[in-house]
Amino acid sequence: LEVIKIDSGPYMANTYILASENSEKACIIDPSCPSVEIMAAASKYHVTDIIITHGHFDHIGGNRRLKELLSCLVHIRKEDSDMLTDPDKNLSSYTGEKIVSPPADIIIDKDGQIIEFGLKELVFIHTPGHSEGSVSIYAPGEKILFSGDFIFNRSMGRTDFPGGDELKMVESIKMILNYPDDIRVYPGHGDPFILSDFKNYIKSYNI
Ligand SMILES: [Fe+2]
Repeated sequence: LEVIKIDSGPYMANTYILASENSEKACIIDPSCPSVEIMAAASKYHVTDIIITHGHFDHIGGNRRLKELLSCLVHIRKEDSDMLTDPDKNLSSYTGEKIVSPPADIIIDKDGQIIEFGLKELVFIHTPGHSEGSVSIYAPGEKILFSGDFIFNRSMGRTDFPGGDELKMVESIKMILNYPDDIRVYPGHGDPFILSDFKNYIKSYNI
């Protein structure tokens, strides 16, 4: 799998394109905004799916334009699905610009739910804490994980937004610590990192 990272938009959220080696199939993870840069990058691939790690506006702002251009399917976990179409719930109301997305095509309701992606599998790991329906997208064969706003390079997601929960965040972090050290993590903001670096960082918190 090939990972293309595009940091774009006023909130500097990372948009990722995940493409199979033969480029026959690609998905876009968290299209942050309808920027020319994102649309141009996406149109180079056969994008079939839009995968949303959580429903905050800075992770869904490009959905509508992408769907118009490429008619792909929007996937999101059930707890965050209403955030797509409700600017109060996705918090865009507070920015002065009401951002909405088309509704979900596919609602993820099981932890560990798998979608087939070319010859690979993508696993939706439920990692609540930043929002109720936060997921991390894991490609086990490639040891890559897209963490949204769950974990970052030497930090973790905020838990003070509606739907945030500090205890759930701790549980999610404990769970992800069981995953292999050498997973490469692509977060919703900032630079990619190796999971072992996060494990070392989090030791100081004694969780
Ligand atoms: Fe967020």
